[in-house]
Amino acid sequence: MEKKVLVTGGTGYIGSHTVVELQKSGYTVIIVDDLSNSIQKVVGLIHKITGQIPIFEQFNLCDSDQLNLLFEKHSNICGVIHFAAHKAVGESVGQPLKYYHNNLLSLINLLKCQAEHGVDKLVFSSSCTVYGQPDELPVSESAPLKHATSPYGNTKKICEDIIRDTVGTIDIRAISLRYFNPVGAHKSGLIGELPLGTPQNLVPFITQTAIGKQNVLKVFGDNYNTPDGTCIRDYIHVTDLAKAHVVAIDRLIQQKNETPYEVFNLGTGNGHSVMEVIKAFEKTTGLDLAFEIAGRRTGDIEQVWADTSLANLKLGWKAELGLEEMMYSAWIWEKNLAAGIVNQS
Ligand code: UD1
Repeated sequence: MEKKVLVTGGTGYIGSHTVVELQKSGYTVIIVDDLSNSIQKVVGLIHKITGQIPIFEQFNLCDSDQLNLLFEKHSNICGVIHFAAHKAVGESVGQPLKYYHNNLLSLINLLKCQAEHGVDKLVFSSSCTVYGQPDELPVSESAPLKHATSPYGNTKKICEDIIRDTVGTIDIRAISLRYFNPVGAHKSGLIGELPLGTPQNLVPFITQTAIGKQNVLKVFGDNYNTPDGTCIRDYIHVTDLAKAHVVAIDRLIQQKNETPYEVFNLGTGNGHSVMEVIKAFEKTTGLDLAFEIAGRRTGDIEQVWADTSLANLKLGWKAELGLEEMMYSAWIWEKNLAAGIVNQS
């Protein structure tokens, strides 16, 4: 029987990698994306990688009429993986209502439509940002959730609450996946992260500096209470992350979930400092990266990495790719971007 999954935000960074892994696992994929932070050419690039064209619909999930029509048109959708959201931390501080409106209403519309159309499985894209600076490391799913440092982070926390409250009232089962720091690109070099404007995140800033689009990487603080003084994060290869979504939707379809709502951390379980990331990039590419130490970035937490034992045990999933593979794939992608790969397709 055909397994059809709706992927919202499927032309985005993590969404596109997940579509690839879903298709490789035998799923038929429908993408809904408003292209506010991605481009339609990604559909063709996914086709190049897998040989299959996902169905593509362009609209924003705040439009519940369009969403209803989509569920009417595709009556056999078995589950939804929901990525579509605004995600720029800095922008969310300046425009909180844009974030609350879009990210919350999209989820609410989705849940309502799913209930109306009997689509009872949801995988939600959450973030380790819900933990803030945890009291204990590594951080497990049972750690208390801290006040979010940005409206963006708060939308992830509120969305989790909305799902938790809703699963008890309608026939729906859901899994939230709390990502640590997704980086890297598909091994084909055909899809990857496409930051709008100047990148705010570390790895795209590194690759853009190495290619000459940025002059110098600023390392935000070297006086933290960590071994080398720079912040520590749990970087995870986007392909490992994508694979976890296939496992999660499989789990719901096969009714292996133990409760109607489950939450899993997705990381490698290893923390790496900013300086370690730079060194891994230099080692795997043979390049010298231009960087300088700068002041701390407001809102940054000192260190966080995941306890992944729950995902390892219950999902039977484990991240396989290491820091150098993450950096190498990110670099190939940056070089392909510079060579015009996205425009040629
Ligand atoms: C940020 C968001 C998080 C989001 C994630 C997406 C915050 C507080 N958190 O996480 O909600 O899910 O991005 O990937 O913004 N760094 C530099 N120089 C740079 C850029 C970053 O030194 O030019 C450092 C940062 O200080 C940090 C590390 O690199 O220590 C990682 O930063 P980044 O990639 O922005 O991710 P997070 O801040 O962890």
